[in-house]
Amino acid sequence: MNMNDKELLDQIWKDIHEKTMQTSQEIGSQFPTMTKNGKYEFIERYSAWTTGFWPGLLWLLYEDTKYEPYQTIAIECEDKLDEAIEEFYGLGHDIGFIWQLTAIKHYELTGNEVSLKRAIVAASFLASRFNIKGKFLQAWNKNGLNDANPHGLSIIDSMMNLPILMFASAQLKAPRFELIARAHADTVLKEFIREDGSVNHMVEFDPLTGQKIQVHGGQGQSPTSAWSRGTSWALHGMAKFYGLTQEKKYLDAAKKVADFFISQLPQDNVPHWDFRVERTAETPRDTSAGACAACGLIELSRYVDTSDKEYYLNAALKIIVSLYENYSTLKDDEYQGLIKGGTFNHPQGLGIDISLIYGDYYFTEAVMRLRTLQ
Ligand code: GLY
Repeated sequence: MNMNDKELLDQIWKDIHEKTMQTSQEIGSQFPTMTKNGKYEFIERYSAWTTGFWPGLLWLLYEDTKYEPYQTIAIECEDKLDEAIEEFYGLGHDIGFIWQLTAIKHYELTGNEVSLKRAIVAASFLASRFNIKGKFLQAWNKNGLNDANPHGLSIIDSMMNLPILMFASAQLKAPRFELIARAHADTVLKEFIREDGSVNHMVEFDPLTGQKIQVHGGQGQSPTSAWSRGTSWALHGMAKFYGLTQEKKYLDAAKKVADFFISQLPQDNVPHWDFRVERTAETPRDTSAGACAACGLIELSRYVDTSDKEYYLNAALKIIVSLYENYSTLKDDEYQGLIKGGTFNHPQGLGIDISLIYGDYYFTEAVMRLRTLQ
């Protein structure tokens, strides 16, 4: 990275802070999901998988800026999330997305004991979703696709939830959470990550025998296509999991998925929503996949030798610079999201070319991490 890159990253960071100061005054501790006509829409159901991202984004900015309202709002959001724990049955496997970015972050920054307890309770809930026969974490309770077999479905997004199990093991000095995380990650290696580095989104098992039944396309075009956000979940999740376990097979998997992801990027380095659909000028992109993959590439760069390090960091930087130059809405005072061009769910025709709160979160995380690299 040269001086110009560093100056550009500082500028992007400043722009994100300025826009978020304004947006935080407008939306407070509501939970944004995606934009409609440039304004965030909110989710009322606190157990939804996206509720950690807005407070998570505020914590990222708070760490650097110490702008007090960010911390206040992030804590208000975290308090509200207790309702999801109390309600209990609404929660699926997305425990990590929710409490890693809120309670764990809060605990790490301030030592708040209530947050620690929340994280342990949430991790215990996730551990309870482990299927001992199939060695997988059950994704949801019921879902439109597969109501017939909700207990047999596992999805690649799960890789992003494993760090909360590792956190609970470390805090309680109790190996059981880590053993579950490792067993699930091994199932992901075996059943989700394909030979060429692309991944399956959803795998359905028999919940009683543990036998694999079939692969579903899920949010990708088909069971054999390559949903770009799912690929980014695998890349980022595997890289993090290697960091937590130091077990080489997870690093090898992260590299394989990263190499596939990079090989599929178009000229402007921002992924299409699925890497295996016909690509025309109209084919929607998914900027959230790009932002999440950039974070995964930065994480991966920490664990590889010098030439690979440069390769992965450079790929991450190119994605982020393109997102900033071609998709960011940072200079538009009327628009609340940070980057547009996100695709929520293409097969269902939902949320195309919008801002997604997780795209905004990972964009912010990637910029933060790139600008503070030594
Ligand atoms: N975790 C759901 C999604 O990526 O849309």
